[in-house]
Amino acid sequence: MKAVILERPGGLERLRRVEREDPGAPGTGEIRVRLHASSLNFHDYLVASGKLPAGEGRIPMSDGAGFVEEVGEGVSDVAAGDLVVSCFFPSWQEGDPVAGDFSQVPGDGIDGYAREAVVAPASWFTRAPAGWTPEEAATLTTAGLTAWRALVVEGGLKAGDTVLVLGTGGVSIYALQIAKAMGARVIATSSSEEKIERLFTLGADQAVDYRQNPRWATEVLRWTEGRGVDHVVEVGGPGTLDQSIRACRVGGRIALIGVLTGIEGPVRTALLMQRQIRLQGLVVGSRRHQIEMVRAMEATGLRPVIDRTFALAEIADAFRYQESGKHFAKICLAF
Ligand SMILES: NC(=O)c1ccc[n+]([C@@H]2O[C@H](COP(=O)([O-])OP(=O)(O)OC[C@H]3O[C@@H](n4cnc5c(N)ncnc54)[C@H](OP(=O)(O)O)[C@@H]3O)[C@@H](O)[C@H]2O)c1
Repeated sequence: MKAVILERPGGLERLRRVEREDPGAPGTGEIRVRLHASSLNFHDYLVASGKLPAGEGRIPMSDGAGFVEEVGEGVSDVAAGDLVVSCFFPSWQEGDPVAGDFSQVPGDGIDGYAREAVVAPASWFTRAPAGWTPEEAATLTTAGLTAWRALVVEGGLKAGDTVLVLGTGGVSIYALQIAKAMGARVIATSSSEEKIERLFTLGADQAVDYRQNPRWATEVLRWTEGRGVDHVVEVGGPGTLDQSIRACRVGGRIALIGVLTGIEGPVRTALLMQRQIRLQGLVVGSRRHQIEMVRAMEATGLRPVIDRTFALAEIADAFRYQESGKHFAKICLAF
């Protein structure tokens, strides 16, 4: 079986293609999946580039999708031939969050899905939306579920709400699509005119260039008649939070998701309090959330936006492309 491993201390030049022993037949409660796709997330980039240390020889990639080849005894919810997609937190099946770190996350604390086959508990996967390709399905594990949880599970999004999304990465474009599919208005930011055009084709109602308008919250307030947005999907972190707080309505919600501009910085706590904003840190979601999201994707007909697909052997090039920031929405690996 072909796989990719990451040699310590990490770095894109340390991604190696290797031949690994076939994982064999599934045991009780397990499935054997022929993996066909993965998708790149900022977290995978941090691991692959060595910015987040992983164990020696770690197989990277948190997202995995493929067809079930064989099911072990006691597995009844999937069958051979079904397209399945991996869960970001295999140990978080439902209920309150169980993990405060990445020690049990495939592609970080444990081996991920940059490989052709895996045998794992059936509960580490869910069914993919009917009719989706493996590449499309692989975008759900991290980006899709994070956007879904931020807006729907925690945010209680409803038709008529206004959602602010930052940049045109995987999470933000999923958030835009979910918001539009559910009848919300969307305001987006990006760093290029060309990407702003693409945001409009996906249904964005307003968009602002955050490089040319570093105080973009003023535009957001203008577009919302001074009220501010109901939800912010905050993927920037310290460099964008101040503007996000200013752009959020009194009593609105900010889902604090990303670290694109760094991992710490000053926060206007008084403004946050004064505006009675609910600021919630969150990391992806549970398997139950994923099952509900898959149902929603089928009902709404939403399909993910894939910018480019690379072969597994081109994984370092795929990460270089992500590093360049030229991408719009998702980058996938197909194998
Ligand atoms: N907490 C969680 O559960 C969770 C899950 C997934 C991702 N994340 C985090 O969310 C962030 C986004 O992840 P991703 O996988 O969607 O990344 P990605 O696909 O690599 O997206 C990167 C995009 O972010 C935009 N960006 C960069 N700097 C920005 C800034 N200062 N203001 C606004 N946009 C900016 C750029 O868009 P433009 O080119 O349009 O400017 C860039 O293309 C990362 O920090 C990641 O770690 C967290």
